[in-house]
Amino acid sequence: GVINVLGVPIPLGALSLITLTLQNSALTIVLHYSRISVPADKMYSAASAVLLNECLKGTISISIAFYNTLLATPGSGYAPLSPEDRSDEEKAAQRPKRWDEVLTVSRVRKAGAKLRKDVFSSDCWKLSIPACLYVVQNNLQFVAASNLDVPTFQVTYNLKILTTALFSVVLLRKRLTPKKWLALFFLAAGVGVVQLQSSTASGGHKEVAGAHQMERVKGLLAVASACMTSGLAGVYFEMVLKGSKADLWIRNVQLSFFSLLPAAVAVFLPDLSLFSSAAASAPPVERQPIFAHFGVWAWAVVMIQVLGGLVTALVIKFSDNIMKGFATSLAIVLSFCAGIILFDFQVTLSFLVGTCIVVGATYLYNQPDAAERRARSNSYSL
Ligand code: C5P
Repeated sequence: GVINVLGVPIPLGALSLITLTLQNSALTIVLHYSRISVPADKMYSAASAVLLNECLKGTISISIAFYNTLLATPGSGYAPLSPEDRSDEEKAAQRPKRWDEVLTVSRVRKAGAKLRKDVFSSDCWKLSIPACLYVVQNNLQFVAASNLDVPTFQVTYNLKILTTALFSVVLLRKRLTPKKWLALFFLAAGVGVVQLQSSTASGGHKEVAGAHQMERVKGLLAVASACMTSGLAGVYFEMVLKGSKADLWIRNVQLSFFSLLPAAVAVFLPDLSLFSSAAASAPPVERQPIFAHFGVWAWAVVMIQVLGGLVTALVIKFSDNIMKGFATSLAIVLSFCAGIILFDFQVTLSFLVGTCIVVGATYLYNQPDAAERRARSNSYSL
């Protein structure tokens, strides 16, 4: 669970959390900018971005899964998966020195067959549930980011800590201490206080003439639904991942595989899908190619989302959903500052107070209690 960067050992758990924090802030800002900076008739398709995201994530996951399978194939130089009884030096000594030793036709074939068997395992269908939920969530994210200013989106989206907790209690039969329930109550209250600003200031937003018009209620409904799917999908994925021996990357491949159909439905049958794109208020335009207006910003959104998906999976594996919430709340502070600088966001007192409550509640929620501290010190081997 530790990687060496220029000789400095960095724990993967911490690294994935820091990356997730930065990714969260970057995504919120770039996503919002990519949606509000162009007129509605020049807008790229959100559904296409989601489909592209799943294809790229799937390709990366399958490459990593194949690489791991190949190295674990007998005769590749690696001892097949019994690392505990070997020292790092022994493992390094066993590593193949040359790629042509590893990449023989028969070994590649063997690894391919093994990978196919692992991916289409008897329980692979379990991933179809989070896959559909994440496709819905990823589409809703675009609706939300198109209709809310950066800090409001970020803070409201933090309600997924609440839904994650609720689903953990229901599905994982997790017990929460009174302190954690209190923190969750403050979290909900804090988000409410932030929302007060909408009645006093219209988000403090500079609208570009002809650019996309924001519809706040639509944005808030989208965020609320995305919070539901985020909690359910996250808890479900954790349940499947930690309830079996299958490798993380195999699970990710299965997740992407089952995402393809719903993501494609949203692209090719937009009238059937629940979420009309942000450009819905624009006069109907002729059906465009699916990657029309797919410029630098759209690509940036997709790339940041791909990174986010991979890092989220790592955080769920190496850390947990609770720590994931902490990373998100740090991201609030960062994008709050960015919103002020980049989008002329005007700070109202209720926004400031609400944000403080949310961040404080997140901190309180993440204070481990005695039992957790004990468990963590025993099991923090990545
Ligand atoms: O907001 P939340 O943390 O629920 O976002 C999860 C994001 O990570 C979604 O965009 C989802 O598609 C992605 N994800 C993923 N692979 C996983 C778990 C989540 O790509 N194994």
